[in-house]
Amino acid sequence: MKEKKVYGLTALFDTPDRIIDAVKKISSDGYKKFDVHTPYPLHGMDGAMKLKPSKLGYITLVFGLSGALFALLFMFWAMSIDYPMVIGGKPFFALPAFIPITFELTVLLATLSTVIGMLTFFFSFPSNNHPLIGSDYMRSVSADKFGISIEAEDEKFDDIQIRALFSKLGTIQIEEIYYPDTETFPMFQKKFILFLLVIAILTGGTTYFVLNKLLFMQPFNWMMTQDKLIPQERSEFFSDGFGMRVPVDGTVARGFLPYEFKGEVNPASFLSNPILLTKKSILFGQQKFLTFCSPCHGNFGDGDSRLRGQFPNPPTLHSNRVKEMPDGQIFHIINNGQNIMPSYSSQTTVEERWAIVNYIRVLQRAKNATQSDLEEIKKESAANGK
Ligand code: HEC
Repeated sequence: MKEKKVYGLTALFDTPDRIIDAVKKISSDGYKKFDVHTPYPLHGMDGAMKLKPSKLGYITLVFGLSGALFALLFMFWAMSIDYPMVIGGKPFFALPAFIPITFELTVLLATLSTVIGMLTFFFSFPSNNHPLIGSDYMRSVSADKFGISIEAEDEKFDDIQIRALFSKLGTIQIEEIYYPDTETFPMFQKKFILFLLVIAILTGGTTYFVLNKLLFMQPFNWMMTQDKLIPQERSEFFSDGFGMRVPVDGTVARGFLPYEFKGEVNPASFLSNPILLTKKSILFGQQKFLTFCSPCHGNFGDGDSRLRGQFPNPPTLHSNRVKEMPDGQIFHIINNGQNIMPSYSSQTTVEERWAIVNYIRVLQRAKNATQSDLEEIKKESAANGK
């Protein structure tokens, strides 16, 4: 018979104190390749074994950092080099926007590498067997005993010496462990693979059944089949067969009252200005005037267009003609346009148009200030302490 290869020697102890003492002695004697098995975690065992922190953390660190670096570099390349796009005026390399993906990829690579690294480097995956599995020793330490195993590969391994040491430490049983004759991979057993297959079919089948069948059965489908109207669908409820109704003739959407004088060149009367001349409405009107009117009429309404002759210059808004116009007439011009000036009704809301009218009034008064206007300003400045 072929000689069996020794894996190591094991010893069982029956109290936690005994095993801790034994482990302290064995590690201080200089044994390196030994391990301890206990039915539950024992406090102080790491220290007694003189365990160094696991090297697994380095794998996590390296892969985590690579994830962060890869994410950042890839986003930099995609967003700044391959397809640069201005998004909301941000720089191409917009770090705050890149943080979520960087974080996710860091965590993804770190966790995956930790699990895969642990299985392959430390547990020699795909082998999930170990000489100790199936031994009497393993049966005892997973019930109520505490055990030490010293591997034959340890430099100081000496069968007789270790047996003597174990006995001195008060062991209750010593067992010699051998490697199995042939290496086996229990993971690849037909039974296990069949088990995985059955689980996959069961979970997949159940999910399919719940999502595609169960939800369409009584009573889960009650809401689906109740009487209701669905947009764009047929309905038996109305005689014309349509589910959707046409609004009553003349219906107007909220906030969209049609303009009374639409298309009229010279209406007999005009709407009156509903917006008070307040500082807030004037500043609002200024903003809208500078946006929509100033390109042609100039920042102060002088008709000094910025369009350099690409569009005929408009007349000044400080003429007596415009000064004497009722507010409603200027509103009407913004709404309908006048001759070659186009309508600005689609760009501005009703409120914005009246605010612009108010601002034009302010411009007109500022350009034609009277003595009393100046005195008013003086009074105000004095009141403000300037
Ligand atoms: C594309 C250039 C342009 C823009 C923008 C523009 N206008 Fe005009 N506007 C004109 C022209 C040109 C006239 C002269 C039309 C005409 O021949 O009667 C005019 C005429 C006017 C008049 C009548 C002046 C008068 O003496 O009859 C008023 C009031 C006026 N614009 C107000 C505005 C307001 C308010 C805005 C902003 C909502 C605005 N315009 C935007 C080109 C423009």
